[in-house]
Amino acid sequence: MLKILALGGSNSINSINRKLANFTASLFPNAAIQYFNLSEKEIPLFSVQLEKTIQIPSEAMELAAMIDDVDLIILSLAENNGSFNAGFKNLIDWISRIPKRPIFNDTKMLLLSTSPGPRGASSVLEHAKIIFPFRGAVILNTFSLPSFDQKFDDEMGITDPELLEKLQTIVNEISSN
Ligand SMILES: Cc1cc2nc3c(=O)[nH]c(=O)nc-3n(C[C@H](O)[C@H](O)[C@H](O)COP(=O)(O)O)c2cc1C
Repeated sequence: MLKILALGGSNSINSINRKLANFTASLFPNAAIQYFNLSEKEIPLFSVQLEKTIQIPSEAMELAAMIDDVDLIILSLAENNGSFNAGFKNLIDWISRIPKRPIFNDTKMLLLSTSPGPRGASSVLEHAKIIFPFRGAVILNTFSLPSFDQKFDDEMGITDPELLEKLQTIVNEISSN
């Protein structure tokens, strides 16, 4: 059974990226899915001064342990001003301070993004594609969902047939390997 971590790269309570990550995880047959909801975590803002006075927050340790435990990370990135959501960036900055392990610790990843706009947060996706492999991510594939409000339904998931087929093909490829 494939162990999956579904993660939205956003601290928004109604994160559309969490919805996309969770929906994508649900497409995998016979998977054991773990969820990490960043909006429920209160994580102090990283600084080199603060890390001298407090331990790495337990939430960052918790996510690192989940990353180490699973076979596949499904991460969907929110885009704020062309880059990472600040809550997500803060989380990975803390994880990067755990000694002797890269952030994603050589775990396989399906990297996603979505936004209400027509570009589907592709700027942050392209950025992450370049930098995450240097942080231990093994990116198997990427997928961006544009125009989230028109192409996703909370009950049905992705409603655009072509985009759903594209994502399903990616899921099938990963499942069969
Ligand atoms: C401060 C701010 C900056 C944003 N910048 C971008 C952006 O650069 N590109 C984009 O596609 N959407 C941008 N958006 C819209 C987000 O894509 C939208 O809020 C989306 O819901 C974020 O994903 P989330 O719901 O998973 O947090 C921005 C939103 C905010 C609040």
